[in-house]
Amino acid sequence: MLPTPVSMDTTEFRKRGKEMVDYIADYFEQLDKRQVYPDVEPGYLRPLIPDSAPQEPESFEDVLKDVERIIMPGVTHWHSPYFFAYFPTASSFPALLADILSGGIGCIGFSWAASPACTELETVMLDWLGKMINLPEEFLAGKDGEGGGVIQGSASEATLVTLLAARTKTIRCVQSENPELTEADIMSKLVAYASDQAHSSVERAGLIGGVKIKNIPSDDKFTVRGSALKKVLHEDRAAGLIPFFFCATLGTTPCCSFDRLLELGPICNKENIWMHIDAAYAGSAFICPEFRHLLNGVEFADSFNFNPHKWLLVNFDCSAMWVKKRSDLTNAFKLDPLYLQHCHQESGLVTDYRHWQIPLGRRFRSLKMWFVFRMYGVKGLQEYIRKVTFFYFMGKFVLEMGREEGLNKNPHLCAFCICTPACINKACCTAQFMQGPAFHPMSYHGSYDHWGHSH
Ligand SMILES: Cc1ncc(COP(=O)(O)O)c(C=O)c1O
Repeated sequence: MLPTPVSMDTTEFRKRGKEMVDYIADYFEQLDKRQVYPDVEPGYLRPLIPDSAPQEPESFEDVLKDVERIIMPGVTHWHSPYFFAYFPTASSFPALLADILSGGIGCIGFSWAASPACTELETVMLDWLGKMINLPEEFLAGKDGEGGGVIQGSASEATLVTLLAARTKTIRCVQSENPELTEADIMSKLVAYASDQAHSSVERAGLIGGVKIKNIPSDDKFTVRGSALKKVLHEDRAAGLIPFFFCATLGTTPCCSFDRLLELGPICNKENIWMHIDAAYAGSAFICPEFRHLLNGVEFADSFNFNPHKWLLVNFDCSAMWVKKRSDLTNAFKLDPLYLQHCHQESGLVTDYRHWQIPLGRRFRSLKMWFVFRMYGVKGLQEYIRKVTFFYFMGKFVLEMGREEGLNKNPHLCAFCICTPACINKACCTAQFMQGPAFHPMSYHGSYDHWGHSH
């Protein structure tokens, strides 16, 4: 039984739980009436709450009252129909309900034994999702595959984890051929690559991983071509560096460009470079057969990642990552203290996801996928993706018309980012004017919007 505050036993929890669901349902029903971007000033909250935690228990009513009084005035409403900043973040009622269940079960599934259902559902859900986007069989766990999927918290973590795994693999490989080299010698020569349009999380992975990251110049379509990668590899090898990792982007943050996997993949394979694909935002679209061709070339990759929490109706956090060889992760990250061991771990029948990620603990996040996939069905999810892309194209049309009319002279519209996810934002630019600033700046090859205007 859970330890309960004076004011909440299971009877009270049933009552308050229903009230909370009502509160959230009301929130969604009334969301369009809330101001999307709060007009509070920095430091607004501290004067509204006591300096320290209360000594005596307070009632649920009092806490909920303060949610409206203190919290809501400072919330940026990401799910408001007037929110067009950053990127869309997914939300659906099935995922919300699954999250309640996940919190209720409250297990920490770091190993199979720590909660078998938590591990096994995740493996199966990643196979379901992999099949939805038609990933090559090698990325699926199946019953005895060498690959498989895992839920990371974010695309940034996926890039970091794969970069670190690639780093370890390369160091061991170089050391086996050159035993005189120390790990530090090799580390100082390692170099990873990504497009000059790649998300900053790739550079950050290099910072955390202690390796150089170089930008590969993209072409006039903001795409990395095989020839550009080849040129840099040639120069770096000649300078004695050791190329080991390339992060391709499908759906770049500034403008949703797609690197040329079919050119880049064979080069990486030939040069023994780990190719990771970051499709954080755009990846959800691959569930529609008409967009799947954009993923062609994934067969050359070692790892692939996208965020169902961005566009596939699974609430944050849920970043799906697949590897062709699970041993690349376990070889890099496996540590086995006695207190985490269990009797099935060497059976070959189970996955211990703690070896696939940075933290030890992990939530039961696959419940969200299971609820969403079952309650929408693949067809429902495809329909949802198509609806969003339809709005994008409609919005693009409206914007082009606006441009003809000179609307782009409006500073709000000009400063308004036209990034990957913001392609959708862009579609709704008129609403932007009505609701105040909810935008972020973006640049491509030094220009600040997609017509090449600098501001
Ligand atoms: C292409 C790309 N990669 C990575 C990220 C970072 O995502 P996350 O917040 O999951 O780390 C984003 C975020 O918007 C993105 O668009």
